[in-house]
Amino acid sequence: MDLSKEGPLSLEPLDKILASMPNAGFSELIPILQKIQEAYGYLPPSVMMAASSRMGIAASRIYGVATFYEQFHLEPHGRHTIKCCRGTACHVKGGRDIIRAIRRILGVQEGETTEDMRFTFETVACLGTCFLGPVMMVNNDYYGHLAPNKVRDIIERYG
Ligand code: FES
Repeated sequence: MDLSKEGPLSLEPLDKILASMPNAGFSELIPILQKIQEAYGYLPPSVMMAASSRMGIAASRIYGVATFYEQFHLEPHGRHTIKCCRGTACHVKGGRDIIRAIRRILGVQEGETTEDMRFTFETVACLGTCFLGPVMMVNNDYYGHLAPNKVRDIIERYG
């Protein structure tokens, strides 16, 4: 875990979370990580290290759980997540153009977050709705049969 990128963070929210779940062990780790993410917006490495020593669970085990589940973010994450499909079924229907349009509108590449922390942009291998291709999701909302000129309107709906 790289602690060097991160400024000092208060451990008060972590201590409150742990105080609300006394004697929590490895089996409560997922709900605890969810609360940490709610409090900090992501799972900061320094907070995970502090959770490790306070809970007596090896940092490698905590890190293993945090990296296994897609719901957890190890980097600061935007308020909204845009996932655009880069799979074959979407690709043949113009998926690359949708990805390019999103990059251009947000000014970020895949895996990055806008400076105002509004959006994180990710691409995925398939969203499981190939019949809607090309398709993207904003948070839990699907947008299918997309064209590049529809993307801006959709993005602007999310404040
Ligand atoms: S290939 Fe795009 S949703 Fe499956």
